[in-house]
Amino acid sequence: MTFKRPRIEGFAIVSREGMIAGSDSSFPEVLKIPADQEFYQASLNRASAVANGRHSAEGGPKEAARRRIVLTRRVQRVTVDPRNPKAVLWNPATAPFDEAWQRLGADDGILAVVGGTDVFGLFLTLGYDAFFLTRAQASVPRGRPVFPGVGAGSTAEEVLERHGMVLRKTRMLDPATGTVLEEWGRE
Ligand SMILES: NC(=O)c1ccc[n+]([C@@H]2O[C@H](COP(=O)([O-])OP(=O)(O)OC[C@H]3O[C@@H](n4cnc5c(N)ncnc54)[C@H](OP(=O)(O)O)[C@@H]3O)[C@@H](O)[C@H]2O)c1
Repeated sequence: MTFKRPRIEGFAIVSREGMIAGSDSSFPEVLKIPADQEFYQASLNRASAVANGRHSAEGGPKEAARRRIVLTRRVQRVTVDPRNPKAVLWNPATAPFDEAWQRLGADDGILAVVGGTDVFGLFLTLGYDAFFLTRAQASVPRGRPVFPGVGAGSTAEEVLERHGMVLRKTRMLDPATGTVLEEWGRE
């Protein structure tokens, strides 16, 4: 059987310091920017499936309808989520990505990776075709970084560049808050 990998796209909104969540791991109010939410949900509507860690599903009315790969260390084998027939549970330490993708039964198309930190980091090594990084002006100095190592010696752009990505486009998403969307692509 021929197997086609999806196009892999990442989506994150970060504070000035590159954080996606605060020290208590909650999603900070200051990162709830309507223009970004709109861009994010519209992007997920274009995707064939979403990949997320256990605490990072995107929310919103369409969440339950989307096919999904949930990363968890609680399973060995790729398993259909007993609570959600549209989702598979995947432990990347014990099964390759292709197995999770095939088990999901999605067509090729886009897999939208929506975090958190370790999930964003894992897909850096699998390879993003694009990463959409929304930069808010708000400060969240400590907490969960967008990638492992951010805020502890590296910036988000350094990590992306180290993984062969280049900044392709920048656009103002919300002038009122100075929120900018960066699109990163493969070199
Ligand atoms: N600003 C943003 O763009 C953005 C994006 C995403 C999330 N967030 C926020 O960030 C916070 C959560 O962050 P988080 O980093 O703790 O979330 P997370 O990745 O969703 O959750 C961590 C859990 O996911 C599973 N997991 C993660 N990486 C794995 C791996 N490599 N292999 C196997 N399982 C893995 C593990 O589940 P088990 O415990 O089941 O093993 C782990 O306990 C939330 O507040 C969320 O709203 C913000």
